[in-house]
Amino acid sequence: MSIENVMVIGAGQMGSGIAQVCAQAGYTVVLHDLKPEFTERGMSGIRKNLQRQVDKGRMEDGEKEDILARMSLSTDLENAANADLVIEAAVENMEVKSALFAELDNIAQKKTILATNTSSLPITEIAAATQRPQKVIGMHFMNPVPVMKLVEIIRGLATEDSVYKAVEEMTEKLGKVPVEVNDFPGFVSNRILMPMINEAIYTVYEGVAAPEAVDEVMKLGMNHPMGPLTLADFIGLDTCLYIMETLHDGFGDDKYRPCPLLRKYVKAGWLGKKSGRGFYTYET
Ligand code: NAI
Repeated sequence: MSIENVMVIGAGQMGSGIAQVCAQAGYTVVLHDLKPEFTERGMSGIRKNLQRQVDKGRMEDGEKEDILARMSLSTDLENAANADLVIEAAVENMEVKSALFAELDNIAQKKTILATNTSSLPITEIAAATQRPQKVIGMHFMNPVPVMKLVEIIRGLATEDSVYKAVEEMTEKLGKVPVEVNDFPGFVSNRILMPMINEAIYTVYEGVAAPEAVDEVMKLGMNHPMGPLTLADFIGLDTCLYIMETLHDGFGDDKYRPCPLLRKYVKAGWLGKKSGRGFYTYET
């Protein structure tokens, strides 16, 4: 199963990072989103990242140009017809992902692998939206993609071994470390991380401490490189809420109940770094 042409769906913080690392590893990449301004925004982030590498002397200018030459932009899902692998990184919402996978299933060639970067949603359920559940797999990158080494790889109930192998090999080619996990809500990473973030939000909600104090305790006291509220802002508070809802629905246990303050921020459009305001404020 040879992978040469990759299509990445969603040019947000994850999709653009995934597109960048795929192009850096030599793949031909189409970066797709709903509107040209979204793909352009993703692409301009990639250009800036690569330029920073050049400025730091870690990459030749020619190499940067070669990487960019392997990338193109799309707002037409029909472009999936040329892909050997599609990696979906649209919003963390089952309806959106199911609709996308049903459409991709109609457009993509029969051999094409359909992967999702979902943080928490069941791969088996996403696969059920297609007629090719054996070719559907979870490929969960970490943020920021160019920096973080881990990719959780999640098989759905029907995922073929050859598909798992192809994705595992590709992950290694990207310079990342694949770790196989089973298809349970939140997999391993977010089952452990997100309840901690949610608890950090509860400590602010209940007036135990200010966000800065919570982050300082976890950084200096637990040696975390980044406090949980800074991390939540970085991940995106909408994504955090979707993940907590998936854990809550999936396990039914009250310990996964999203903090009301998280809901309130998301309703207010305070989505963290990407919207300029979350637990902290950012220049956009
Ligand atoms: P984001 O909000 O930065 O980007 C999402 C992009 O998807 C937007 O550009 C949006 O226009 C696009 N989109 C929405 N619906 C679409 C559709 N039907 N077709 C094409 N494009 C569509 O979100 P982010 O953070 O990049 O997350 C994307 C996915 O990656 C989510 O499933 C999330 O759970 C997952 N993820 C997020 C991580 C994080 O730290 N933010 C880490 C690992 C996974």
